[in-house]
Amino acid sequence: MEAILRTDRNTALEEAIAFCEEKGLEVVFAHEISKTNLQIISERTKHLPAMYHASVGMLLDRLKNGCFLLKKDGEIFGHIFAHRHTIDKYSVYERSSLWIHKSYRNHNLGLLLMDFLTKKFSKEFLISIAQDKTVHNNNELLGMKFITLKDLSPVLIETLEKLGKLRDEYKYKYYVNPYFESKINQFNKILKNNI
Ligand SMILES: CC(C)(COP(=O)(O)OP(=O)(O)OC[C@H]1O[C@@H](n2cnc3c(N)ncnc32)[C@H](O)[C@@H]1OP(=O)(O)O)[C@@H](O)C(=O)NCCC(=O)NCCS
Repeated sequence: MEAILRTDRNTALEEAIAFCEEKGLEVVFAHEISKTNLQIISERTKHLPAMYHASVGMLLDRLKNGCFLLKKDGEIFGHIFAHRHTIDKYSVYERSSLWIHKSYRNHNLGLLLMDFLTKKFSKEFLISIAQDKTVHNNNELLGMKFITLKDLSPVLIETLEKLGKLRDEYKYKYYVNPYFESKINQFNKILKNNI
């Protein structure tokens, strides 16, 4: 199963990279985005129903963690951010604000940005909370592990609940990266002892 997923992932990513080369698109890691572009991104998250609204201030805060941009001739055609939640003294990063320009969709570029971010945060606690089945499939392709709410510490759930989308396993599925999975019991224990 793992081998099939790896082959599928590599094929999908190779296709995405070839498409970028053909179209002159590049993926860049950024800590800075112009105020105008931040306003555009914020408006986008407000108007697209599948996205959670992120104000310019929230985006600026997320930029501290860096983000991946899909660019061509200095223009942004795609983005993905990491939203840092602080639990006790630990950071849990949630993938957020994924978007690809309409004219470049259906070439696995969303998966490509997810892959960059997942790799960048491989030594951090990374979580994905989503409704869409495609996201779940992509998460599995990227080596993320499905977990249930009972696997997560109530302290963590409470913090994440501020997003308004937790304690709902009918609508949402939760995926964590292998690093988070490997430390989850230890992490839960520490949080329990610190209450
Ligand atoms: C989500 C998005 C980046 C995927 O674009 P993409 O990489 O070109 O899509 P793919 O070719 O990999 O995937 C094919 C299908 O899976 C969907 N998909 C892939 N990743 C997804 C994701 N993270 N969330 C929701 N849907 C997704 C696509 O919408 C597409 O569905 P469609 O054919 O019915 O339009 C793009 O549809 C987009 O920007 N949508 C608007 C913003 C959005 O919904 N962001 C996700 C919030 S979780």
